[in-house]
This record gives sequence, C-alpha cells and structure tokens, in this order.
Amino acid sequence: MRIDVLSLFPDMFAPMRQSIIGKAIDKGSLDFEVTDFRDFTENKHNNVDDYPFGGGAGMLLTPQPIFDAMASVEKKSGNKGHVVLLDPAGRKFNHEVAQELATYEHLTFIAGHYEGYDERIRELVDDEISLGDYVLTGGELGAMVIIDATVRFLPEILGNAASAEGDSFEDGLLEFPQYTRPADFRGRKVPEVLTNGNHAKIAEWRLKESLRRTYLRRPDLLEKRQLTSQERDLLDDIKSEER
Ligand SMILES: C[S@@+](CC[C@H](N)C(=O)[O-])C[C@H]1O[C@@H](n2cnc3c(N)ncnc32)[C@H](O)[C@@H]1O
Repeated sequence: MRIDVLSLFPDMFAPMRQSIIGKAIDKGSLDFEVTDFRDFTENKHNNVDDYPFGGGAGMLLTPQPIFDAMASVEKKSGNKGHVVLLDPAGRKFNHEVAQELATYEHLTFIAGHYEGYDERIRELVDDEISLGDYVLTGGELGAMVIIDATVRFLPEILGNAASAEGDSFEDGLLEFPQYTRPADFRGRKVPEVLTNGNHAKIAEWRLKESLRRTYLRRPDLLEKRQLTSQERDLLDDIKSEER
C-alpha cells in the first residue's frame, strides 16, 4: 500500500516511523510520504491561508498550495489514490471504515488546519472523514489514527494476520478478557476454564465474556448484531447473572 499525506506539519508524523508501522515502512511493505503543501505556495511569503470572504473568525486554507501538492503526488505515483479529507463534517471513522480504506492500494490524506478549508479544495476529495464529534486543532492526529487502524488490516503489515481476527469489533463484539502468566498473581487467579486445556469450553467462555462485556459496555453493538441461538442463550444467562 502507498499512503500520502498533505500536511503543514510533517514532523508531527514521527510516530509513524515507530513500532509496527515503522517496520512496515523499513521493509517496504508500506510506502509512506508526507508532503508539506507550504512548499508549493506561489506567494512570496509562503502563506497557505487567508481571510474568509464575507468575514468571520479565523483563516482558511487556500486552494492553490493543496491543488499543486496533490498534482505532485499524482505525478510521483501515477495517481492521487483515494483522497480523504480530515474534517469534522465527514462520516464518522470506525472499524468498518478502516476495513474499507484497507482495500485501496493508494490513500492520500489532506490534514487541515486553522478554521478549515476553502470549499473548492473538496473538489479534489473522494471521501471526508471525522474522528468524532469534537474539534481538533489540525488533521494530523486524525490522519495518524486512521492510518494506524487501517494498516492493521493488511496482512503484510500486521505480520501475524490472525492477531487482528479476535480484536474488538471484528465480529461486532468487544474482545473477551485475556490473561497471561502467572496463573496466580498475588492471589488474583486466572479463571480456571482457561488453564484446563478444554478448547470447546474455552471458546464458549470467551464467547460468553465477549457478549457480557458488550452487553455491559456497548449494548448498541448487540442491537446491530444477528445473534445465533447459542449467543441468545448465553445472553439470557448473562442478563440473569448481572441482575
Ligand atoms: C480547528 S479545525 C477546523 C474546524 C472547523 N472550523 C469546523 O468547525 O468544522 C482544523 C482542522 O482540524 C481537522 N479536524 C478537526 N477536528 C476534526 C475531527 N473531529 N475529525 C477530523 N479532522 C478534524 C480538520 O482537518 C480541520 O480542518
């Protein structure tokens, strides 16, 4: 996969060079580049923003540097990819959107700043995504969150693809509680079912605890999910246990 970002603050993307994503970049499984669109300004002060027509608070990003930075991305890689604008007015980011973005070979993010964008910048865009119902100072952190969650769906990047399989949201449920050694930590014991090697019982316990956690913390997820008859029975048990 190739990922481009247009941003005024390329240094903010230093975390992308760490850990799993950093290794994927080093191995060449992920081609990642940040373009500073201030480098493309045509005015002598390198301004990228200007006052809104009609008045109002704050400054808007002007179209010219972003249009020309996008043209340079297109020239470099043959296409501009699926272009995502970071914007509080976009569709809300979640697990499904990350899965969908992972199907593209090339993604280009535009990270905004100041009061927002000149409306004509949206002509370059295929998708608008919001991190949530709050306002960030800029699109960089949002772009990093989206990139991180998206590339986890690429087997060549996560390494062991199986480790994404049981993750929260993967099957519409939150992940079950997990334990590692020691089996007894200062008197706090791991549930016995997990240590007895009975795989069918372990699977049932995990399903039940996934359902319990989802029921207690995110009941909205259960409303969206078609439950199997086993899941319905387990949920009935949980409801009476939690009463
Ligand atoms: C200060 S915000 C501008 C907010 C804008 N005036 C509004 O009310 O929608 C500057 C930039 O941060 C990014 N941003 C802020 N909040 C965001 C969110 N919830 N999701 C995605 N990007 C966000 C966008 O790129 C936005 O253009």
